[in-house]
Amino acid sequence: MRTQVGIVGAGPAGLLLSHLLWLEGIESVVLEARGREYIEQRVRAGVLEQGTAELLERAGVGERMRRQGMVHHGIELRFGRRRHRVPLTDLTGKSLTIYGQQEVVKDLIRARLDAGGQILFEVDDVRPEAVEGDRPLVRFRYGGGEQELHCDVVAGCDGFHGVCRDAVPAAARSVYQHDYPYAWLGVLAQVAPSSDEIVYASSERGFALHSMRSPQLTRLYLQVEPDEPLERWPDERIWEELQARLGTDDGWTLGEGPILEKGVTAMRSFVVEPMRFGRLLLAGDAAHIVPPTGAKGMNLAVADVRLLAEALAAWYKTGDTGPLDAWSATCLRRVWRVQDFSTWMTTMLHRAPGDDDFQRKLQRARLEYVAGSEAAARSLAENYVGLERV
Ligand code: FAD
Ligand code: DHB
Repeated sequence: MRTQVGIVGAGPAGLLLSHLLWLEGIESVVLEARGREYIEQRVRAGVLEQGTAELLERAGVGERMRRQGMVHHGIELRFGRRRHRVPLTDLTGKSLTIYGQQEVVKDLIRARLDAGGQILFEVDDVRPEAVEGDRPLVRFRYGGGEQELHCDVVAGCDGFHGVCRDAVPAAARSVYQHDYPYAWLGVLAQVAPSSDEIVYASSERGFALHSMRSPQLTRLYLQVEPDEPLERWPDERIWEELQARLGTDDGWTLGEGPILEKGVTAMRSFVVEPMRFGRLLLAGDAAHIVPPTGAKGMNLAVADVRLLAEALAAWYKTGDTGPLDAWSATCLRRVWRVQDFSTWMTTMLHRAPGDDDFQRKLQRARLEYVAGSEAAARSLAENYVGLERV
C-alpha cells in the first residue's frame, strides 16, 4: 500500500489529522489497533476549548456538537464547603463546550468514511521503519496477513501506550516525567447533573469533580490511591464519598442514579522532546500527557495536529519545509504552558499523602486568592478556555 501520510492511531489526533489533510487534498491511511465499536464507546475527555470547538466547526465536523454540546461560561471551585464561581466568559470573552471525546471520534470516523477515507481497524503488530530516510514505511498485520504501508511521513498518533515513540532511538530523545501520588476514579451516572457548571472540589477527604455529558448524564471523578482496585469502590461507597467531598453548607444536593461505567486513570505528566525524528512526527498523547485536572489532553492533541496539517500542506504545496522544521518547537511551547497549568490546578486541588499542615495552608491560600482576586481568576480563566498564542 502507498499513501502520502501514514497515520498510526484513530484517536482524536489521528482522525482529525486525516480529516484536515483531506481538506488540503492530501491522502492518508489510518491504522488502528482496536475495533471501531470499542473506540466509539471509550469514555474519556469531555471539555473542548473554544478554539477546539471552532476548529471542528470550520472543518465541517461540528454539526452534532452544535446541537448536542453544552456551552458553558464559567466553572465552580468548591472548598471549605463553599462555592466560588470563576466567570470564564466575563473574564476572557470565551466559552467552552462539553461534548464527549467519543462523540468527536464518532463524528470524525463518519466524516472520513463518507469521504472515502481509509481507516483500518484491528491492525496488529504495527512497526514504523526507515523513518530517518525519505522513504519511511509502516509494517503491520491485518486480517492475518503481513502488510506494508509506504508513505512520505509517518504520524505517530497512537497515544501514550503506542509504539511510535519507541521508533525514536533513545539517544535522540529527552523524556521529562512526573508521577502524582493519586489517581482518578471516573464514573458515568444516569442522573441529571446537579450543577449547571463543572465543579472542582477540594476537601479534607481529597478532590472530587462534577461534570456532565447531557441533561440526563452526569460525569464524576474522585481522587483515589494510585492503582486503586475497582473492587474497593462499590457504587454505594462512590456516592457516599462524592456526597462528602462535594457537600456544601448552603443546602446544595447531589442527585444519585445508576452508575453506567467506572474506571481508574493514573495521573502523570510526560513530555518527549523533540516531537519529530526524521520523517516520524509524534502528536497528541504519544508525545505528551498532562494530569487531567485542567481538561487539556484532547485540546493539546488537537492543537498539535492543526499545526501539523498546516505544515504538511505548506510542504506539499510549495516545497517549503519551514513550518514542518519549526513544528516540534512550536507545539512544545504550548505543551509546557499547559503542563504548568495542569500541574498547578492538580496540586492546588488534590490532597497528597505526605502533605503536612503547612502544605494544606498554602493550598487554601492559593484557592482563596483565585476566589478573591480578579487578576488570579483571570489567569486561571485564560488558561482554562485555552490561550490562542503561546
Ligand atoms: P488516544 O485518544 O489515546 O488515541 C490513540 C489511538 O491509538 C487509540 O485509539 C489506540 O487504540 C491507538 N493505538 C495505540 N497503540 C496502537 C498501535 N500500536 N497501533 C495502532 N493503533 C494504536 N482531555 C481533554 O482535553 N479534556 C478533558 O476533559 C479530558 N479528560 C480526561 C479524562 C480522563 C479520565 C482521561 C483518561 C483523559 C482525559 N483527557 C482529557 C485526555 C484525553 O482523553 C487524551 O489526551 C486524548 O485521548 C488524546 O488523544 P490522542 O488521539 O492523542 O490519543
Ligand atoms: C472533565 C474531565 C476533566 O479532566 C476535567 O478537568 C473537567 C471535566 C469531563 O470529563 O467532563
